[in-house]
Amino acid sequence: MFQNLEILPPDPILGLMQAFARDNRPDKIDLGVGVYQDDAGRTPVMRAVLDAEASLLENEGSKSYLPPAGDVAFNSGVQQLMLGEDSVTRYGERLTSIQTPGGCGALRIGAELIQRSQPDARVWVSDPTWANHMPLLGGAGLSIETYPYYDFAGHRLDFDAMMASLQKAAAGDVVLLHGCCHNPCGADLDLQQWRAVTDLALEIGFTPFVDVAYQGLGAGLEEDAAGWRWMAERVPEMLIASSCSKNFGLYRERTGALVLLAETGQAATASKSQALSAARQSYSMPPSHGALIAGMILEDAALRAAWQAELEQMRSRIVQMREALVEQLGDDFGFIRQEFGMFSFLGISPGQLSRLREEYGIYMVDSTRVNLAGLNVNNLAYFVGAVRAVL
Ligand code: LMR
Repeated sequence: MFQNLEILPPDPILGLMQAFARDNRPDKIDLGVGVYQDDAGRTPVMRAVLDAEASLLENEGSKSYLPPAGDVAFNSGVQQLMLGEDSVTRYGERLTSIQTPGGCGALRIGAELIQRSQPDARVWVSDPTWANHMPLLGGAGLSIETYPYYDFAGHRLDFDAMMASLQKAAAGDVVLLHGCCHNPCGADLDLQQWRAVTDLALEIGFTPFVDVAYQGLGAGLEEDAAGWRWMAERVPEMLIASSCSKNFGLYRERTGALVLLAETGQAATASKSQALSAARQSYSMPPSHGALIAGMILEDAALRAAWQAELEQMRSRIVQMREALVEQLGDDFGFIRQEFGMFSFLGISPGQLSRLREEYGIYMVDSTRVNLAGLNVNNLAYFVGAVRAVL
């Protein structure tokens, strides 16, 4: 049976982790996979997570299955994180969510839900987008269209081109938007642009699907949510894929949620039942550990305050690295200062990128996406020197 299978190349992002681990050079720098690193180059377990975990170890009475939709406190915490503290009163029965294995699980179950409800829907994704968006959504059988998003030559969001392209979307199509900290380019929609996309969604009748993987790492926890919350208050229906990988540092615990806003309570209940059936056919029910921790942090005032403070420190360290990098590389790289979250394109040539990897042990995604959280006070000068040398 397996004789005819070809060996596939490593994943363009995850493959970098292995390549980096194999590199023995002491000065090597990992700017590849999107995980937060502190000033010492470590990806720490957040303090609030350790505290919640300790309490869980002490008090967890059973490892029996979670309910199919996951942990109740987690779902309600994530709904509030996504759509505001008043989300339950504001949206009532139109709002529902299910816990998923990471943001990937939410994207995939969201795609399967769309496929069940509107099989000829086209999903419009930004060009460029995260390397796993098309496989995750297309793998559920949806057809994919792209809309231009980033002007590589001008190092900026090309909003006019995006809007012109989205005019071609039809009623019943889905438009995938990055909630904040666009992966891979870091160029985000401002509030005015979110308003314009909202108006277009209402005019055309497409459904927004917002991928929120970096809330709190752009402009701040509430600030990052302003655009999609504006949209949620106006459109009849919307999907949100929420991930706790980065902002809770729960990467390997696969913790996320699919948040659904439907036109009516009845449509929300039906959608949830279909999403749960899609999940049952795939992974059955979500894992508990990460969600119990995130749920506890969101529910408990002291844990939540500690988590928010640490998240804010992480965010501000990334902003400082953006500033320091531009200061040292010069104004040609000034665009990095305007962008948000972990990523920006460095915009160097493929040959220069290979030299950075081969001669200096500096790893980034082939698109020249760098994870700025991989830079720190100890490796910045080495990185800047290497970039100057290859330019
Ligand atoms: C990334 O973009 O590097 C992260 O979201 C990790 C991943 O799964 O690709």
